[in-house]
Formats: sequence, C-alpha cells, structure tokens
Amino acid sequence: MKIIASNFKTNHTRKSTSAFCEELERFITQKQAKSQPFAHQITLFPPQSALLENRFDSFTIGAQNAYPTKNGSYTGEIGLEQLVEFGIQTLLIGHSERREILKESQSFCAEKFEFFKQLGFHIYYCIGESQATKQQGLNATLEFLESQFCGIDLAYPNLIVAYEPIWAIGSGVSASLEEIAQIHMHLKKKLGKIPLLYGGSVKPQNVREILSISGVDGVLVGSASWEISSFCQILENS
Ligand code: PGA
Repeated sequence: MKIIASNFKTNHTRKSTSAFCEELERFITQKQAKSQPFAHQITLFPPQSALLENRFDSFTIGAQNAYPTKNGSYTGEIGLEQLVEFGIQTLLIGHSERREILKESQSFCAEKFEFFKQLGFHIYYCIGESQATKQQGLNATLEFLESQFCGIDLAYPNLIVAYEPIWAIGSGVSASLEEIAQIHMHLKKKLGKIPLLYGGSVKPQNVREILSISGVDGVLVGSASWEISSFCQILENS
C-alpha cells in the first residue's frame, strides 16, 4: 500500500474539482470491478473554494490550509468550523509555498500542527530545503530539515511527512533516485514508522521508480495530478 496525494494548489474550480472527483471514483471502482487489487491510500487537496463533502469511497478530501482556530476574526482564513461542515479531517501543513510565499514561520506551522493534532486530524506535514541549502552539502541539508521538525510531535500517530525539496517542485525535474534514497534513509532513522512521502516533479513517467525506493511510502504530486488523465496514469503506474 502506498500513499498517493494530490495538491491542486491554486488550480481547479468547484465545478472542475467535482468532475475530477467523479471521474476518479469511477476509475478506481472500475479497476476494482476488474478485480485489480488497488490498495493505495489517496488524498486530494483542492483549493478552499472547491472543498467538497468527504463522501467518496475510494479517496479522501483534505484541506491545503486552515487557521488554528474554531472560528473568529482571521480575514481570508478558514478554521475548524468550516472544515467540519465538509467532513474534512485531513490537513496539509508546512508546504514550502506557504513557508516561502506566505512567510509562515516554523513556530506558526508548529502552532497549527498542535491545534489540529488535538483534534485528531490526519496531518500531511511538509519539509524541504532550498537550492541554496542543498548547495551547502548533505550535513547542512539534514540540519535544515531537522529544524523543520521543531515543535512537531513525531509521536503523533496520524502524521504523514512529505519530503519535498523546493528546487524540485514545479521544475519538471525531480530529485534523482539517489538523492531521494539518501535523504529518505536519513529521515527514516528519525521518523521510524511514520510514513514518508516524496514530492517534487513526480509524474506518470517517474512515479514507479520513485515508489520503488526503499524508505518512500508514497508521493505528494502537484502539477502532474491536475489533469485527471495524468493523475489516473500516476495511479496506474503506482
Ligand atoms: P510538483 O509540486 O509536483 O508540481 O512539483 C509538488 C508539490 O508542491 O507538492
């Protein structure tokens, strides 16, 4: 069983997300009807305006972001109350785009983590180094990644970690198999049984070999998951 997650980022509307989900459900049901074993755990993260009720049999809907509050005055944010309405119990925290573009600090990521942990949410927690850090070598990279676990409870049973090197995100070129294997080996020593995903330019052409690396329990996919045909191909190849 592998974990395959799709991050829509700021793509898709409510209507197109709905069509995507219906088609995905059909695709998986048909596969199962042909008694092709299909045991992957799939999660989709649509944009907030396209959150759908969590009513699908073959995959889960999660939120890309939420503010650590039940409700209140946090203009532009959604909190627990809004997630509950959709039956959402899965959340992405720490994505590099939020850390870099929205300037989310490690302490804020940890605050969100703690809030949603108390509520039993499934948390996909992202870490990843920049090109500049990578260039400083393996030790600097591992130290940086370590700093991104500050305030994060690694004993939390509903935690999934995604290692997403920033330099590989949206670039079309994933980290090499050797690079992924090396970092995952180091991270696994720390994380133990916590599932560890790789993200960064995963696509139908490379998903199989990435998933075959020891220490890779799944993938978090951005751009190559936005077209349903491409996402189904990723599932087909997984
Ligand atoms: P990408 O994005 O697959 O487009 O590189 C991955 C991510 O940001 O999660």
